[in-house]
Amino acid sequence: MADHPTTEADLAAWYDVLNPWGPDNDFYLAPVLAADAVLDVGCGTGTLLHRAREAGHTGRLAGLDPSPAMLDRARRRADIEWFLADAGSANAPAVAGTGPGAGFDLVVMTGHAFQCLTADADVDAALAAIRAALRDGGRFAFETRNPLVRPWERWTPDRAVAVTRPDGRRARVAHRVELPVEGGLVRFTETFDGPGWRAPVVSRAALRFLDAAALDARLAAAGLAVEARYGDWDRRPFAPDSPEIITVARPLP
Ligand SMILES: C[S@@+](CC[C@H](N)C(=O)[O-])C[C@H]1O[C@@H](n2cnc3c(N)ncnc32)[C@H](O)[C@@H]1O
Repeated sequence: MADHPTTEADLAAWYDVLNPWGPDNDFYLAPVLAADAVLDVGCGTGTLLHRAREAGHTGRLAGLDPSPAMLDRARRRADIEWFLADAGSANAPAVAGTGPGAGFDLVVMTGHAFQCLTADADVDAALAAIRAALRDGGRFAFETRNPLVRPWERWTPDRAVAVTRPDGRRARVAHRVELPVEGGLVRFTETFDGPGWRAPVVSRAALRFLDAAALDARLAAAGLAVEARYGDWDRRPFAPDSPEIITVARPLP
């Protein structure tokens, strides 16, 4: 049955259809194009870096992701460096380089990849590695959904979406949160189904929700200071009812 994803690669193939280019990508593309050396942590299928190269970026573009299936799709472009690794490896010599010229002018985590860091230790290791991978004057830009507006309460099966891949495959995709939500950790399922599918395919995931104060404490502990904070992709200031906590951080001296 063609319309039946059974592997991580099949699920990765649905990712770009479910996450088309949007205002979040536009937000990041401008600083990526302005930076000489860029690292995209949790780059997924590589959409942002692909677009940056297509738009004429001539400097260093590197993407890092621990998912072989996502990274395989990113590797469609060979003029970008791809690393199969997690965020804690952002400053590894193979990634950041060594000696004069090592490091990045900009590190980004987009598409809420930061929320995949579910344990405190993972958050701290990622921030420390990213801090160490920044050149003098470098910046770390990322976003996390605002827990104060409890977005997971809208991740319900009645809001399922119907999507079609470029190859014509169709799916209905529904989310269901596993209750209770505790400690800022949201566990949920993503179910793929639809006409012609043998059986639903269920993928499980967990995302961490840190509020702005907790985020700032972890950034500070890693030697990063908040330089700018927005609540949405139009750059409006962050407020308690904002959908996003978008942060641009710089290394503390
Ligand atoms: C929702 S996707 C976002 C992908 C891409 N940044 C985008 O905007 O489309 C989250 C990505 O984070 C990656 N990820 C999960 N755990 C990670 C970790 N510990 N370090 C770095 N990336 C991680 C996943 O493999 C996945 O590709």
